[in-house]
Amino acid sequence: MKKNEYILPDQKAAGRRNLKEQAERVSFSMPEHLHRLGEGKTYFVRTYGCQANVRDGETLGGLLEEMGFSPAAAQEEADVLIFNTCAVRRAAEEHVLGEIGNLKPLKEKHPEKIFGVCGCMAQEEGIVRELINKYPQVDLIFGTHNLDQLPSLMEKVLQGKRSISVLSEEGRIIEGMPAVRTKPYKGFVNIMYGCDKFCTYCIVPYTRGKQRSRRMEDILAEITQLREAGGKEVQLLGQNVNAYGKDLGMEDGFTDLLRACAETGIERIRFYTSHPRDYSSSTIDVMRDYPNVMKALHLPVQSGSDEILRRMNRGYTAESYRKLVDEMKAKIPDITFTTDLIVGFPSETDEQFEKTLELVDYCRFDSAFTFIYSPREGTPAARMEDDIPLSVKKERLQVLNERITKYARENNEAYAERTLKVLCEGPSKKRDDVFSGYSEENKLVNFTGKGIREGEIVPVRITGVKSYSLDGEAL
Ligand code: SAH
Ligand code: SF4
Ligand code: F3S
Repeated sequence: MKKNEYILPDQKAAGRRNLKEQAERVSFSMPEHLHRLGEGKTYFVRTYGCQANVRDGETLGGLLEEMGFSPAAAQEEADVLIFNTCAVRRAAEEHVLGEIGNLKPLKEKHPEKIFGVCGCMAQEEGIVRELINKYPQVDLIFGTHNLDQLPSLMEKVLQGKRSISVLSEEGRIIEGMPAVRTKPYKGFVNIMYGCDKFCTYCIVPYTRGKQRSRRMEDILAEITQLREAGGKEVQLLGQNVNAYGKDLGMEDGFTDLLRACAETGIERIRFYTSHPRDYSSSTIDVMRDYPNVMKALHLPVQSGSDEILRRMNRGYTAESYRKLVDEMKAKIPDITFTTDLIVGFPSETDEQFEKTLELVDYCRFDSAFTFIYSPREGTPAARMEDDIPLSVKKERLQVLNERITKYARENNEAYAERTLKVLCEGPSKKRDDVFSGYSEENKLVNFTGKGIREGEIVPVRITGVKSYSLDGEAL
């Protein structure tokens, strides 16, 4: 009999957190005897969800390669397959559970293969129970706070112990973990972990823990390293970047950090995600003053109704959001905006949904991620009645998407005949004289050209306009 070793995550502990307490910092090093554990074996990491997870996926790759594993060409061939999951909406979870369910016959045929689950779903008590009880094909479960323990967990799994999961040791910052960057010219850099905002619908504060900011010198060192290795663009990551440094006692931490990042000289800086409540005017000034801070802002608003925003615990009104957008447009006339919107939050009326449409009309977003509200166990909103029928939610989503597409197209038309600077992300799969990449404005541009390398920034003249992309030719 194989032994189960596990500790369940404690979601309720989030409510008892001391938000003022500073994070403990630890530096990672791989124990000597684990360096060759994976020799001759391959791995594959399937990542879902946001950029924080993508970055974690890079770290998982780094750890596994330092243990001697090599990347598998395809998921089916891998000796070790890890699902790096997202818990933000139920539909995404069901999809992953389906995928994991489908692995059962493969496990029966190849019991030596190792299947792991990590990421935000591995932080949910209910999901972890379900995985342990109903998915015997899963050998390894570990939470978002435990990436550094992957090597020792892997060792245990290889010794034949199964279903190992670890309670998140919340509150730590682990520096110095290896990573395999997916794109060397475009690097993700975490500036903070976790979130203290507790929007009532959102599971992230429970799956990612309290806000922990990295030290500025560690962030800057990583950006400099990235730049010296040929990196052109850095994306600063945090659930609420504008609150950077508050847990370290910094007054206006994000503005200071953004300025310092700009002064490293890296060609492009973007940051995800901003929160309207914590946005300071001084940050807008830095965006305006440094040409390498991209003038494309993702600023999730969620709803245009004050009552819904209040019940979401977002901490701003539609009016204050509009004022923020106005201030930015006044200081940075060519700025572009994208956002996130939720329809069908508990008790959202037609009039309240109308307010969201009005806000979209006012802000004329360049694009938006739009979602149907999904109740998440353990969050305050899950205790409110999910009373909007699915048919109404779907209808609202469709109306909203049509509105978003209308402005996306109208905004894009302004780029016809203009020349944009595009960071080339490689030729298209079908034709080697057609490339694609993102402009400074964060517009997806498909363009023709000759001999352009991935990671090169090229001027492209825009010749055609679509709702969500532009066509052009390299000059
Ligand atoms: N930290 C970021 C994003 C977090 S999750 C922020 O605050 O904006 C990304 C998006 O998922 C959110 O902006 C929200 O629009 C959506 N989302 C989060 N929880 C959700 C839920 N329970 N149902 C539907 N959409 C949700
Ligand atoms: Fe979730 Fe709100 Fe935190 Fe974003 S700011 S991660 S929506 S709790
Ligand atoms: Fe999903 Fe976790 Fe990111 S829930 S959106 S992967 S922080």
